[in-house]
Amino acid sequence: MRKNGIIIALDGPAGVGKSTVGKRIAAAVGYKFVSTGKMYRALAWKALQASVPLNDEQALLELADSVKWSFPKGEGPEADVALDDRILQDEIIVEEVSRASSVIAMLPGVRQLMKKMQQMAGAAGGVVMEGRDIGTNIFPDAELKIFLDASAEARASRRVGQLKAQGHAADYEEILSFIKKRDYQDSTRKVNPLKKADDAIYLDSTFLNQDQVVEKIIALFNETCGEKY
Ligand code: DC
Repeated sequence: MRKNGIIIALDGPAGVGKSTVGKRIAAAVGYKFVSTGKMYRALAWKALQASVPLNDEQALLELADSVKWSFPKGEGPEADVALDDRILQDEIIVEEVSRASSVIAMLPGVRQLMKKMQQMAGAAGGVVMEGRDIGTNIFPDAELKIFLDASAEARASRRVGQLKAQGHAADYEEILSFIKKRDYQDSTRKVNPLKKADDAIYLDSTFLNQDQVVEKIIALFNETCGEKY
């Protein structure tokens, strides 16, 4: 056992609810929650700000090196991502940053840098870490690996529902095509593509609601740790 507990690796495609579900699980079992997508988003945001071309790996690495990265404890179980002490929130969830983060995530050097930071953030255990390659690449020895999936159509409908509930306009076809594009980019890239680890548990949430997904994962956690939550 690691110092603070096990590592729960939670991987899956964009828009499947990994963050929401992961935060709830972390809160339920007293673990911290780390979104690795936020780290890619932070660098993508900085690159857009600094007009660094998204395919210039050397310049991106220099840019990453020129800022201070920190992961202060945020609200609830989540660790925030801060660059030069600026905590990044709404600015990194906009569409432009989503797209850019998927592009820079193709670069091997960028992935290597992220890997170092992610391993540091999780090595002591007691963590739910969410991403695309946590079970395959970052922590292949994680004690519990979940690959959370749902059809692209189900993910697009959920996203439309969320946006409408927040009072935003949302076009289902546009969102569906965006999700499919990101799936393609994330799962066909050469380095650490989105892929279920051989020993990960596949959980299809297309026909499950969020409570059911959380319950299932907590049951798996209890089985793994012999604890009861
Ligand atoms: O999970 P997210 O949408 O916030 O992630 C943003 C992008 O970062 C996603 O399109 C792919 C990339 N990413 C990755 O390649 N590996 C991870 N472990 C997490 C995110």
